[in-house]
Amino acid sequence: SPLHSLLVALPKCEHHMHLEGSLSPELLFRLAAKNSISLPQSDPAFESVESLYARYAAFTSLDDFLGYYYIGFSVLLTQSDFEELSYTYLSRAASSNVRHTEVFFDPQAHLSRGVAVSTIIGGFQAASQRAETELGISSLLIPCLLRHLPVENSAACFGEMLSANLFSSQGSGGVLAGLGLCSTEIAKPPSVWKDIFALAEANGIRRTSHAGEEGPAEYVAKALDDLHAMRIDHGVHAADDEGLLEKLAVQKIMLTVCPVSNVRLRGVDDIKEVPIRRFLEKGVRFSLNSDDPAYFGAYIQEVYCQTEDAFGLSVDEWGMIARNAVEGSWCDDTRKGEIL
Ligand code: ADE
Ligand code: ZN
Repeated sequence: SPLHSLLVALPKCEHHMHLEGSLSPELLFRLAAKNSISLPQSDPAFESVESLYARYAAFTSLDDFLGYYYIGFSVLLTQSDFEELSYTYLSRAASSNVRHTEVFFDPQAHLSRGVAVSTIIGGFQAASQRAETELGISSLLIPCLLRHLPVENSAACFGEMLSANLFSSQGSGGVLAGLGLCSTEIAKPPSVWKDIFALAEANGIRRTSHAGEEGPAEYVAKALDDLHAMRIDHGVHAADDEGLLEKLAVQKIMLTVCPVSNVRLRGVDDIKEVPIRRFLEKGVRFSLNSDDPAYFGAYIQEVYCQTEDAFGLSVDEWGMIARNAVEGSWCDDTRKGEIL
């Protein structure tokens, strides 16, 4: 498309990228060797970089992907592992004119392996500061609670982060910019995490939640009503409910949409089925994101270009998408002003 060079030059913000989802097969095998971690012998996908990429190209669902995603976690042990992972992502994002990014991570799945939140934060912060100085990209970090674990495990993990004053709203220079919720969705309605999100709100912590990826529009509504989510991650099934779309538009709730992820996890058969046009018609704000780029074979630049190829958006529409992405970011107004 003639718009591809414009889409490269466009100043971008990313709001939906799981740090662990940027672990490439190459880095996975290298860190496994360095840290003496054994990978599942019984799964032929782990025979080589190539076989692992081939398996990633054949995901059948969110849960099928998550199985591989959590195995990938096992190779991440030290602060320098997290620093390398973070800097590799940030430099790639910066090279695609991503000016600001908000990165998710899953603390519970590291705590259960004996890796402390401070190890992850330390590695991310070192990379974040270096990338900001050297490449001009700003970055924030957002922990996601995990829906496949008992809610008590979420409560304990959130309680620890709160007690340690890790959130930026807590006034002591905390590095965590907000709270998220992710992992398997079906049969895990947002309401279960209501008390934890209420405690977050009481502490001035921003809130976002995965919803409407595989789950119904009702889960998106619950994320708004029960979690007071300020953004919705994915949100594609919100398109099934006219009233909900109006509410999202009126309340200026931004959806962090991940069209290539939706294709790769078989939420849609074709990227053209992602309700991008519907969101535009209804005035629902959204940003475009990579989700787990190393697993889905597309970083944000490819996501922008594949979206353009599918929908043929106008220059004005792209300008609006880029502005909404800046506006929906959780950086301060000064930083927003620098980006646009
Ligand atoms: N964790 C990492 N990627 C995810 C996704 N697409 N949905 C839910 N949880 C996730
Ligand atoms: Zn996600």
